[in-house]
Amino acid sequence: MKKIGIMTTGGDCSGLNAVIANIVRAAQIRGWRVVGITDGTDGLTTHTPSVVDLDIINMPPTISRTSGSILGNGHAGIMNFETATRSGQLRAFNNNLKTAIRKLKLDVIILVGGNGSLSLAWTNRDIYSDVQLICIPKTIDMDIPCTSRTIGFDTAVQQLVSYCDQLILTARSHHRWFVVQSMGRDCGQLALNAGVAAGVHAILIPEIKFDMNALIAHIKHAPTDYGIIIVAEGIRIRGHSGQPAEIISRKLTAAGIPNRTAFPGHIQRAGDTTAADRILAIQMADATIRAIENNETYVMTAYENDQCRTITLADFYAAGRTVDDPNISGLKTSNAYVTPDNPLLHVVENMGIYIGERRK
Ligand code: F6P
Repeated sequence: MKKIGIMTTGGDCSGLNAVIANIVRAAQIRGWRVVGITDGTDGLTTHTPSVVDLDIINMPPTISRTSGSILGNGHAGIMNFETATRSGQLRAFNNNLKTAIRKLKLDVIILVGGNGSLSLAWTNRDIYSDVQLICIPKTIDMDIPCTSRTIGFDTAVQQLVSYCDQLILTARSHHRWFVVQSMGRDCGQLALNAGVAAGVHAILIPEIKFDMNALIAHIKHAPTDYGIIIVAEGIRIRGHSGQPAEIISRKLTAAGIPNRTAFPGHIQRAGDTTAADRILAIQMADATIRAIENNETYVMTAYENDQCRTITLADFYAAGRTVDDPNISGLKTSNAYVTPDNPLLHVVENMGIYIGERRK
């Protein structure tokens, strides 16, 4: 009988429970045992590894609707890759993880994580040398290379669109603009997709430079005297520091454009999991089960052309643009961004939405 450990690491998002529930369901019909490792690597590094047995009774398919992770994603103040690196204890930390995995007698670890966790799994791969390691990409930022979809992204887009749908009504009543700051770290996918769906007037993303005067002119010449400008949290404005939405808001006020800022914040990571994210979760769970049966290891599930398959972690790591991880000094994270051939960029321009000064 196979023994499978599953853990959710990094920031939470909607769709994690859908992944777990589908793994449990598929494992149970194969007679495999699934244990949930609580709070990501925290659960492995506590004195006795902290795990819970999962079955279809405590992980019913109906839980797929809920956001967050039933297993938890870790808490601040506990030793993790970030603190271990900072305090020079990374080797000891890695050994603890490896020992815990041995103690649990696991055959497989399923790691549901973002590009930081996946990059760490690859760069510290010796931790997993006694098990099959299968990774599932999740993040609202959609910044993971080699997969055109990540768990939680679709729900985050929906959450941000719903937020804008509400705001636009008050914007219209008061003839003013809202500068909405989206999450996404240094990637513009969330802002771009939500902006298109919500029909906003301007979308500013880190990948494309914008011109403040052009933005102001665009708003002044808009057919309405109200609307929304979505600003991705990762944009930089030369000569300024602080929240980009606030900087832009001040510039608009100085130009005589009435406006307010709005910060949807962590609501983007919450919300009932959309059907699209649930379908993605079941496809990724299915690809994971196949990978276990094929004895694959150091792989990640990836979505491309309506299908889910596995690719190697080596390919994942080599494919992205390696950037310095903002949290873990010394870690190069493999990252993916909005590229100039993104079809939505043409759509945006053809619809008269300001996206910045794109080189043609
Ligand atoms: O990576 C996911 C994400 O939600 C980013 O979009 C955001 O910048 C960050 O995490 C927020 O992290 P925290 O929950 O630590 O505030």
